[in-house]
Amino acid sequence: MPNVLLGVCGGIAAYKSAELVRELQRNGANVRVIMTRAAQEFIQPLTFASLTGHKVFTDLWESQAVSDTIEHIAQAQWADVLVIAPATANTLAKLAHGLADDFLSAAYLATEAPVVLAPAMNVNMASHPATRANLLALEQRGHTVVASESGYLACGMTGDGRLADIETIVRAVLDRLHPIGDLGGETILITAGGTREPIDPVRFLGNRSSGKMGYALAAAAERRGARVILVSAATTLGPPRNCEVISVNTAAEMHTAVLERLSEATIVIKAAAVADFRVSQVALTKLHRDGALSLDLEPTEDIVRSVVDHRRPSTLVIAFAAEMGLDIVRAREKLHRKGADAIVLNDITRPDLGFDSERNAAVFVTGETAVPLPESSKDEIAARILDQAMALRTHQLAALQLR
Ligand SMILES: Cc1cc2nc3c(=O)[nH]c(=O)nc-3n(C[C@H](O)[C@H](O)[C@H](O)COP(=O)(O)O)c2cc1C
Repeated sequence: MPNVLLGVCGGIAAYKSAELVRELQRNGANVRVIMTRAAQEFIQPLTFASLTGHKVFTDLWESQAVSDTIEHIAQAQWADVLVIAPATANTLAKLAHGLADDFLSAAYLATEAPVVLAPAMNVNMASHPATRANLLALEQRGHTVVASESGYLACGMTGDGRLADIETIVRAVLDRLHPIGDLGGETILITAGGTREPIDPVRFLGNRSSGKMGYALAAAAERRGARVILVSAATTLGPPRNCEVISVNTAAEMHTAVLERLSEATIVIKAAAVADFRVSQVALTKLHRDGALSLDLEPTEDIVRSVVDHRRPSTLVIAFAAEMGLDIVRAREKLHRKGADAIVLNDITRPDLGFDSERNAAVFVTGETAVPLPESSKDEIAARILDQAMALRTHQLAALQLR
């Protein structure tokens, strides 16, 4: 059983760490808990002692004098992974700068185990340059940072800073404990973001895609050992680690970029929201408001169709469909019409999911199967999509060998 050392810091989300302990245990982990002094203002050590059946470490000095072990060193060595959730701005700053003035920060410096950090804090604390620089430094040190999510925060503000889903944190911990690497040897070409079709030099036809689903897929595929080429239309997201990012604006540019790199890909995942139409005649100068304006639109390139036409037989093609409702029959009809191997069907009528949301729900539709991907974080959905893609790829390679 893997040993998980969980650090709990002094934030409102500390109560969620109790659920995290349970989920880690459900996944077969031995869990021990360190609490900062501030954490104990929010939740009692007794909660964690009861859940883990083990003493909770709260003080660097307590018991050192009477024991022949140096407790923070012993726990640092015991850990197969150190997880800090919630990680406060204060503790992140201490870790980034190597301070070691309490049990948690001293154990952090003393451990050789991989580290997973799940920050949670007020939106302004999260976006402060100091916090961002500390998180970047910790990430560059090789630690996994499970990004906080957007939403309503306990401080009454809405924005980035909410602790990631427990399931997302657990998955990150399991990834560090057992790096899967099941996508080693695969080159995955992923498209993401929303294309922009110019109307004039300052205006464009766009859509509400944030790029989060495609970026989550790229990050997850990279973590699982794939080489990732990410063709990205408009998004505000930072580039995922170790992925090659090709930035494009229009559907035509995305079409060209994808076809240029297609021969390298073993799997293509088309998660971008690509315009179906573009303006036939783009104005060379800014249009002025001189009465009514009509725009002539023409269809854009069908990128999935082109990919299917130009791929090698062994290249798997997974398309996305954003539809009003989850109509499997319609999705399968589109799958056959386009010649793709699978379609990830999203229901865009759910205002709380999909476009520009941290969460999603979908169905992975192939010619024979329709596997529901129940509502969860986009990281979790990305992991499930890759699981399905790999199952399909194994099946497909076996079928090609039989021919
Ligand atoms: C009610 C309340 C809620 C707080 N919530 C957070 C939080 O969510 N995230 C955070 O970084 N700091 C939060 N703080 C501030 C931390 O508790 C404070 O910076 C403390 O020194 C953190 O100590 P630690 O990092 O050792 O746990 C909160 C403080 C109070 C009083």
